[in-house]
Amino acid sequence: MTRKRVAILISGRGSNMAALIEAARAPDYPAEIVGVLSNRAAAPGLATAAANGIATASLAQSKFLSRDMFEDTMTQILESWEVDYVCLAGFMRILGEDFVNHWLGRMINIHPSLLPAYKGLHTHERALADGVTEHGCTVHFVTPGLDEGPTILQARIPVAAGDTPETLAERLLVEEHRIYPEALRLLASHQVKL
Ligand code: GRF
Repeated sequence: MTRKRVAILISGRGSNMAALIEAARAPDYPAEIVGVLSNRAAAPGLATAAANGIATASLAQSKFLSRDMFEDTMTQILESWEVDYVCLAGFMRILGEDFVNHWLGRMINIHPSLLPAYKGLHTHERALADGVTEHGCTVHFVTPGLDEGPTILQARIPVAAGDTPETLAERLLVEEHRIYPEALRLLASHQVKL
């Protein structure tokens, strides 16, 4: 089995990144994590990746004259790592059409809602404000429309009386860490495609 080469894009904590790194330790996992790229040098996830012996890079968009130049540089770094797939894991920038189209079918994201419900930010707050009884997370292909690409996997959790955005996020994160590695496994073993 040739393992697919995967890079992860983060902006912060990197707990989903860590779940992917952990899953990829299994010898029969069809992908290896070869690089982690952050748009914030202070992202705690970078240290976690480095501690796992994974190549890291950070690039601040503010240092570039345009978003296109920033994203072209990201693609150059990803291609220097010879990646087959890109996983967005808490990467807090909206990506431009050229970058998305370059990686189309090869880039996936995890989003903390049952898409198509609650695209964008503050998903837990919005779900609670609506009084939903069920919440969840989605791994999906990244396409040019924000949080609009086809779903690969979803997980659902019940909303409990007294839940706050924090308690809901904490319970949902357990499911995120379960389905993201599973979705990447499906992609890297060609069991799903765009
Ligand atoms: C997760 O809730 C993920 O669904 C969202 O951003 C958060 C990132 O958390 N896209 P982490 O950096 O993976 O811990």
